[in-house]
Amino acid sequence: MTVLVTGSRGQLGAALLAEAARRRLAAEGHDLDTLDIADPVAVERTVLRVRPSVIVNCAAMTDVDRCESEPDAANRINGLAVGNLARAADLAGAVLVQVSTDYVFPGTGSRPWAEDDPVDPVNAYGRSKALGESLARTARRHLVVRTAWLFGPGGRNFVEAILRQVESGARTLDVVADQRGCPTYAPDLAGAILDLLARGATGTIHVVNAGSTTWHGFARAIVARTAPGVAVRPVPTEAFPRPARRPANSVLATDRLRRLLGRELPPWENALDRDLEARCAS
Ligand SMILES: NC(=O)c1ccc[n+]([C@@H]2O[C@H](COP(=O)([O-])OP(=O)(O)OC[C@H]3O[C@@H](n4cnc5c(N)ncnc54)[C@H](OP(=O)(O)O)[C@@H]3O)[C@@H](O)[C@H]2O)c1
Repeated sequence: MTVLVTGSRGQLGAALLAEAARRRLAAEGHDLDTLDIADPVAVERTVLRVRPSVIVNCAAMTDVDRCESEPDAANRINGLAVGNLARAADLAGAVLVQVSTDYVFPGTGSRPWAEDDPVDPVNAYGRSKALGESLARTARRHLVVRTAWLFGPGGRNFVEAILRQVESGARTLDVVADQRGCPTYAPDLAGAILDLLARGATGTIHVVNAGSTTWHGFARAIVARTAPGVAVRPVPTEAFPRPARRPANSVLATDRLRRLLGRELPPWENALDRDLEARCAS
């Protein structure tokens, strides 16, 4: 398997390259400076040079609030650019893996979302990612991997944000307690993507660590492990008005993942332990 990773400096892209190296797979990574996925000519040229068997698209505009104020840019990068990758994947005979999001769902109810539930995003980021999913499905061989609440080494993420607040001396943190999702560790997701490819998986699949929580629950778990004296208070979403609406329930069902891999990913609390250990070690 030869893997081309786009968005390779992001938290998932970097984790994929690291996991591919661990497995001794041939892999080449590109980020915005060497391959802008919104440039169809550059995408075709790179794909025809590398001749990958798999393209994993981790490139995205991931700032949800910025997507709300710049919806055209969001659609161009998260949506239309995926069409460039789909066309190039077909030219090279490669599988296109498009990484997508829990934010394609509307967040209503309390049941976990299944792969075939209708998408109905509540914000511009979700709409642009839903467009990306539909363009990924134009590739002859594709795998749409929906994930959520990513954290991992070197990333701009929630764990990093909480640790930074604690380090800067905060003794009380107010954290939203009415949005529920599945925190997911980028290295676990990277390993699962490569395992799914090795098994020839196609179509759409949810890949998240086991369990779910709220942002408040996630913050409490981080603080309990790193700064037990700090108080974490639950607050409603309205306490932090943001430009983009967030879905209240974005828990993803993982029955298909369990069937295909014969296992779940480890519980998110276990993944958090490993993330914090890795931070201490580095
Ligand atoms: N983060 C989450 O919580 C989360 C949740 C669900 C799904 N996802 C999805 O998971 C995937 C990976 O997310 P992540 O957290 O690893 O993202 P990330 O850390 O923000 O990395 C994305 C990378 O893509 C690069 N990029 C942006 N525009 C590009 C372009 N036009 N061409 C090439 N590269 C470009 C970014 O560069 P710059 O930094 O310079 O812009 C960045 O290095 C994305 O598809 C995202 O939508 C993420």
